[in-house]
Amino acid sequence: MMGMPGGGGQPGPQGPAGTKDQLYLNGERVSGQEVRTQNVTAALSVANVVKSSLGPIGLDKMLVDDLGEVTITNDGATILANLEVEHPAARVLVQLSEMQDKEVGDGTTSVVILASEMLKRANELVKNSIHPTSIMSGYRLAMKESIKFIKDQLAVKTDKIGREVAFNIAKTTLSSKIFGRESEFFANLAIDAMTMVKTESADTGKPVYPVKSVGIIKQHGRSFKDSQLIHGYVMYGGRAGQGMPRTIKNAKIACLDIDLRKSKMQMGVQVVVTDPKKLEDIRQKEADITRDRIKLLLNAGANVVFTTKGCDDMAIKYFVEAGALAVRRCKKEDLRRISKLTGAQMMITFADMDGNESFTPDMLGTADEVIEERFADDDHIVIKGGKNQSACSVLLRGANMHMLDEVERSLHDALCAIKRALESASVVPGGGAVESALSIHLENFATSLGSREQLAIAEFASAMLVIPKQLSVNAAQDASDMVAKLRAAHNASQTDPTKAEMKHYGMDCISGKIQNNLQAGIIEPALSKVKMIQFATEAAITVLRIDDMIKLAPAQEGQ
Ligand SMILES: Nc1ncnc2c1ncn2[C@@H]1O[C@H](COP(=O)(O)OP(=O)(O)OP(=O)(O)O)[C@@H](O)[C@H]1O
Ligand SMILES: [Mg+2]
Repeated sequence: MMGMPGGGGQPGPQGPAGTKDQLYLNGERVSGQEVRTQNVTAALSVANVVKSSLGPIGLDKMLVDDLGEVTITNDGATILANLEVEHPAARVLVQLSEMQDKEVGDGTTSVVILASEMLKRANELVKNSIHPTSIMSGYRLAMKESIKFIKDQLAVKTDKIGREVAFNIAKTTLSSKIFGRESEFFANLAIDAMTMVKTESADTGKPVYPVKSVGIIKQHGRSFKDSQLIHGYVMYGGRAGQGMPRTIKNAKIACLDIDLRKSKMQMGVQVVVTDPKKLEDIRQKEADITRDRIKLLLNAGANVVFTTKGCDDMAIKYFVEAGALAVRRCKKEDLRRISKLTGAQMMITFADMDGNESFTPDMLGTADEVIEERFADDDHIVIKGGKNQSACSVLLRGANMHMLDEVERSLHDALCAIKRALESASVVPGGGAVESALSIHLENFATSLGSREQLAIAEFASAMLVIPKQLSVNAAQDASDMVAKLRAAHNASQTDPTKAEMKHYGMDCISGKIQNNLQAGIIEPALSKVKMIQFATEAAITVLRIDDMIKLAPAQEGQ
């Protein structure tokens, strides 16, 4: 669609030297200040959507998609994922929150708000004729300095994070999602879950906490308080046949993606049989194929068989006779987890290259116990003590599915926060403490530099304040007043050595006071703040670099 006038390989009328400085476009082109302002406006409107959900008193959003599916949430990443954002610059912000969600798990709202504020301020600077390149290098400098400051000054090493620290971290994360007492209940649940799945990394020998090993199942009915932690991996579903045992100790597990029903000839296959006896033989052969497969499994020692496909009465009969437990119509993702946990191979076929079918004992996974249990009036299969990893599951109860979904997301945030804190063993005070400390420090840092990045760093410093401001606005407090108090405290801590402990001062949204948040237990993993600043700066720079946008018109039908 894009080409020079008089294209088609032939030089234009004026020849190469005199080519017109005009591009023929089937679409539109926006450049310079105009595109920058457009992008910033789009980014700001994304931030405006999530702004009011920041902090413990942030409000929820109700999202209804084109199929009428309702989501009620407070999670920045979920809100943005459900919006179908079209503007390319705004999409950068959506991806930003996605990335934060993947890497850290929490802080997805803050990161978007921060990035958009940085962009807004950068745009003002450009309007005041500062070159974007200077702004970008200023922002990078400020980012590096901030991370250094957090690591050296603000982060508190808690080598052996006790239960209390982990509890406070989980509670801070959860308090912005679930109210009051329930956040304590779920914080405890989250810590118990994480300690249950603790393992040691094979490479470094350090303890690792895989969040994925904590399965979450939801059943509506009862109240939140009836949620429970179950030792082992829990899968929805029950035994294929009533004659099978409920409990199998020393389980040898086969995970199949194979149908265990009588195999049928494919549609459209025609066999002409003249002897009626042969017809019976064909029928027998069809049954035999499945019987042989089951024999293969049983001979290899399998006593638990999971399949994603079906399992008919004939197959069930064989399993019952052998005292094995079979479960049909399992979800594929469940089986993938189970095969990870127990070391079982996920079988798509038994056949080798030549078409001979075989199954060896090393394809089986092992677990201490596989049990069918009833939770919330439904059958579930619980797998305990897998060979490779231990797992646990949280059974969430609640009044309706929307609430349960939101609790699941919140619990996931809390699990991630605990993981980050335990693995890196360093925490920072929350409630705007880090952001205010950085704003003071960066302002001083900017004045110490004699280069043109100074202005950009000063703006970066002010952009930081958007978090405490928004937190207090959402908590119905006077934002200017709160931020001024916070800044005064942090200024004192950085200038007066006797007041150094004031560097942990942040606000408590609930009482509306400035306090030592480290002591008050409003803490967050240091990594989450570091990543937030890093990602937000990178995203702001990505958008800022753009000074030309060429958008082609979509191709017309029939062209
Ligand atoms: N009791 C509290 N008082 C003051 N600030 C708090 C309190 N609890 C949490 N915060 C602050 O709230 C912010 C976190 O809010 P929230 O969890 O809504 O957003 P997020 O973590 O950025 O995004 P998300 O959780 O949606 O991924 C953090 O800055 C944290 O310090
Ligand atoms: Mg959060």
